[in-house]
Amino acid sequence: MENKGRSGIKVMAGLIGMIKPLLGFMFLAILMGCAGNLCAIFIPVMGGYGLLSAMGLPQLFSLKQAGILLVVFAAVRAFLRYTEQACNHYIAFKLLAQIRHKVFAALRRLAPAKLEGKERGNLISMITTDIELLEVFYAHTLSPIAIAVITSICMVVYIALLDLALGALALCAYLVVGALIPVINGRMGSKAGQAYRDGFGQLNTVVLDNLRGMDEILQYHQGEKRKGKMEEQNKRLERAHRRLKGLETGQTTFTDIAIMSAGGVCLVMAALKVSSGNLSFAEGFLATIAMMSSFGPVAALSSVSNNLNQTLACGNRVLDLLEEEPLVEEITEGVDFRNGDINAENLTFSYGKSQRPILSDFTAELPKGKITGILGKSGCGKSTFLKLLMRFFQTDKGSISYGGRDLERIKTRELRKHIAYVEQDTFLFHDTIGNNIKVGNLDATDEEVKEAAQKASLHDFVMKLPHGYDTLLSELGDSLSGGERQRIGIARAFLHDPDMIFLDEPTSNLDSLNESVILKSLKEEAAEKTVVLVSHRKSTMGIAQQVIRM
Ligand SMILES: Nc1ncnc2c1ncn2[C@@H]1O[C@H](COP(=O)(O)OP(=O)(O)OP(=O)(O)O)[C@@H](O)[C@H]1O
Ligand SMILES: [Mg+2]
Repeated sequence: MENKGRSGIKVMAGLIGMIKPLLGFMFLAILMGCAGNLCAIFIPVMGGYGLLSAMGLPQLFSLKQAGILLVVFAAVRAFLRYTEQACNHYIAFKLLAQIRHKVFAALRRLAPAKLEGKERGNLISMITTDIELLEVFYAHTLSPIAIAVITSICMVVYIALLDLALGALALCAYLVVGALIPVINGRMGSKAGQAYRDGFGQLNTVVLDNLRGMDEILQYHQGEKRKGKMEEQNKRLERAHRRLKGLETGQTTFTDIAIMSAGGVCLVMAALKVSSGNLSFAEGFLATIAMMSSFGPVAALSSVSNNLNQTLACGNRVLDLLEEEPLVEEITEGVDFRNGDINAENLTFSYGKSQRPILSDFTAELPKGKITGILGKSGCGKSTFLKLLMRFFQTDKGSISYGGRDLERIKTRELRKHIAYVEQDTFLFHDTIGNNIKVGNLDATDEEVKEAAQKASLHDFVMKLPHGYDTLLSELGDSLSGGERQRIGIARAFLHDPDMIFLDEPTSNLDSLNESVILKSLKEEAAEKTVVLVSHRKSTMGIAQQVIRM
């Protein structure tokens, strides 16, 4: 996947762009957060007012009033904190659902061409952990930033009203704790954050590979080598993690030092001003309490920046996927499929600009209602040709038409409805055999499923299974033979009942008995269907009414 490496601001803007429908909730969360934090800050300040009036220094609030306000603030603070969090989580989970939806839509858009070579582990980690981590951005990043800014402005104003110089000091201290330290930390950690996320995705890919290829690993004694590869990935991940943790510790320390120093400087300044008669004791006292108790919201920002690196790295990857251009756009506005001869004219195709052409100026005519066989040595582009006919990829030059209608104008959905394509490998879902056949037609009745299975020479095998068509594939321990898998793929195609059937090596794993049953079915179907058959087997090619050599 193309890595656009956007700046942090761009990623944030992209992520915030998705929040529009929930802006109201966002404002509510920020409002409650600000009010809650101000309550928390003014609890000790109220204590200060109470103390001052107890000492006989007349203040804005009497001891009793200050006491009542203190209790009210405490209660309101708790309530506001709860509702703020509830709001944030509501937004976050709503958004996560939407982002998941968008990611799945993107995958659908990109499939199959762009997903063929994708590292699946990376995709899995994106769909799960990456999206999950974005919750942190929405619930614990956006509103804390807004809350810190607003609360700090309020506090600067309050302290400045008591004493201008102390107000300026507060402003500087907030900027250092809430902006300078997090920004420096963010800069230092951004590479480590990205490395951590990437490493995590790669580790997923390696683990998945090892699980899938367990048989080969054992057979060829690759255990140590594969283990070494996994350990190497693990170490890389650990290095990135350690660096992130180190930065986190450094940042907490610097934040604490900055807060302590600001408090100390404020105290000294206030003391000097009071002793020189430039400030009353009460004002100096209140300003110092207000300043010392007001670092909560900005300090929260410093921990935000630790996660921010990782969150932005995730956001970047998710945005990459969402913005990735598909190789082949689905045609939604176009003409219907017309059953007729298939004409491929002067096709030239390569899988990438820099790659060798698989087809060069290839022309073929596949007549309607006939069985056309395609012959050619391995790697010459037979499967590729079928994929081009299915418009999984687009030709570089030349054209394909069905019944005289250009493939580039036919609605993609229509095309797939009228053609069944049995690929070289059949993918089976974790479901029952019956449902795996029904992939070809979800509305099929049991009778139709049985009929399709009979045509594919699969029915007798299914009837011997413990629960017949309801047997879960996992019950069989994924132990279906290559031929059985193939026959499920063929049964799917028969059940789909299309105008055309494209079969890529449908009989490569079958014994001659099963093969002959399927060939007989195909011949019968071919009376009204167009069949395209790729095979290296002479016996299978025997049913072809015309043969194209590639
Ligand atoms: N997604 C892909 N990206 C890049 N190259 C590919 C891709 N798929 C296939 N190829 C390459 O294109 C060439 C043709 O592949 P294709 O699968 O069409 O061959 P084939 O004629 O079907 O071979 P076989 O008889 O072995 O199935 C091969 O060299 C293959 O490595
Ligand atoms: Mg092939």
